[in-house]
Amino acid sequence: MKDQFVIAQISDLHIKAHGKLSYKKVDTLQAFKNCIAYLNQLSPQPDLVAITGDLTDFGRSDEYQTFSEAIASLKLPWVAIAGNHDDRHNLRTACQNQPWLPAESEFFHWSLNDSPLHIIGLDSTAPEKPWGEFCEKRQQWLDHALSQHPQKPTVVMLHHHPFISGIGHMDAQNLRGIERLESTLKKHPQVQRVLCGHLHRFITTTLAGITVCSAPGTSHQVAADFNVNAPAHFSLEPAGMLLHRWHAEQGFTTHYLNIGNYGPTHPFYDANGLID
Ligand SMILES: [Fe+2]
Repeated sequence: MKDQFVIAQISDLHIKAHGKLSYKKVDTLQAFKNCIAYLNQLSPQPDLVAITGDLTDFGRSDEYQTFSEAIASLKLPWVAIAGNHDDRHNLRTACQNQPWLPAESEFFHWSLNDSPLHIIGLDSTAPEKPWGEFCEKRQQWLDHALSQHPQKPTVVMLHHHPFISGIGHMDAQNLRGIERLESTLKKHPQVQRVLCGHLHRFITTTLAGITVCSAPGTSHQVAADFNVNAPAHFSLEPAGMLLHRWHAEQGFTTHYLNIGNYGPTHPFYDANGLID
């Protein structure tokens, strides 16, 4: 087994079809293409790209078709979980050729164990609802999945944030069942990262002593407005992604990367030492 494994987490693509802009403002497809180009030139290459939900904007089949055409140019293996903007049936169709595609069931859960990490995709979506749910059925599934590999460093991914971010309109649609998730995670100390999307911002906190990270969006970001009655607004801050680097002896580090072309790198030193 390798002693290092890197997950590139991207989130909330909100792909639309036929060149349509999201909210009549954002070219989410072009942003996704920029993201793929950025991923393809990373060195070294991540081992896996994890998409933490909202692949499409309205969950329509033509949006998933557009997603599938775009992601065909990604050179890396990828996995995806459902977000509140996804449609489970259409998402399944878009993922039909993926080796991790779960058997048909009520939830779009999966569990990957073919790397040094145990990586779990948990379906937190509630059809037609913006918020997420961690109900008893999902608790049973997660508890069972975690009990299969109690010694293996584990990453749990779900779309909805299991915490309060301070952004009021998003916290009104966070995960319902946070205490249930917390008590489940406490039983399984091998879990080292909980990764989510939904917030369209990089935010980090802890749950059951585990580092939780929400990823920025690949196109638009939720406005960083911490007023209780903040309006549901987005901003066109730089697109981003997270790199979760795991090493057998060093554990996890999480890096935030801005997606874009920022030109070549530049040396700190020349033949005379630190450049003055
Ligand atoms: Fe989203």
